[in-house]
Amino acid sequence: MSTTRTLARLLGFGAALVAAYYATAYARRTPPLLPPRVIAHRGGPKEAPENTLAAFASAFARGVPMVECDVHLTRDGEVIIIHDETLERTTNGTGWVMDQTLAELKQWDAGNGERLPALAELVELARPSGAELLIELKSPHLYPGIEFKVLTELEDLGYLDRCVLQSFDWDCVRRLRQLKPSARLGALYEVGNLDVSWPPADAEFVCPPAENVLLNPNLVRTAHSEGRGVFVWFSRGEAPWLYRYLKVFGVDGLITDDPDAAREALRA
Ligand code: G3P
Ligand code: CA
Repeated sequence: MSTTRTLARLLGFGAALVAAYYATAYARRTPPLLPPRVIAHRGGPKEAPENTLAAFASAFARGVPMVECDVHLTRDGEVIIIHDETLERTTNGTGWVMDQTLAELKQWDAGNGERLPALAELVELARPSGAELLIELKSPHLYPGIEFKVLTELEDLGYLDRCVLQSFDWDCVRRLRQLKPSARLGALYEVGNLDVSWPPADAEFVCPPAENVLLNPNLVRTAHSEGRGVFVWFSRGEAPWLYRYLKVFGVDGLITDDPDAAREALRA
């Protein structure tokens, strides 16, 4: 047999195996625990600068039921919304968020004249519609006590039950659970970590990147079999075909930069 024919047969065999793998996963897929929701990542930065009140307001105005944001602590212990530990990428300020007070941080322009919002400001913006908040605690190792501060603030504002708190730092997720057993928590997964069974702190939601679900669609069934929802984030771009693929395999939420396109795909 010629080398070319051997290679062609091997390729055909590989393709058949891959097809069988996805066909089996498809046959065993589970429906979402609740109707899948669109979650505006950093408020949905297509419409306004990321993680600003303008972005969140735009998401709420378009009927997005849940927004994602990132939080840090200021030097005077306030919970502030910004993605990075430093100011340079998203504002005209410089330096570390943790080195400045809330008042000092408020002087910087976060894009189009927007100011960095405190978490409490986002809660007040969300309250009229009752929209849910997916709050990511960023770099919690830099902020001892941030878990207590975030939980207390949300409880005092009467909005904790409309929130899911998530982190890539699983010790942070465990501390949140210890402090508030009834809080809804999400465990974030890095690219390549394909096993979502029994996440830290028995989190109610597992949050893998889309790549992980592409490689292992069975992880959605695993999470559902344990009663957990699956919120998917996107590490390298989004596309309608990807939204549809995730929908087919029953994910519970898309943490998307383009809520309108994701909603359209979920509706289709
Ligand atoms: O919700 C998860 C997602 O936000 C993680 O990525 O870098 O945008 O915070 P990042
Ligand atoms: Ca985030």
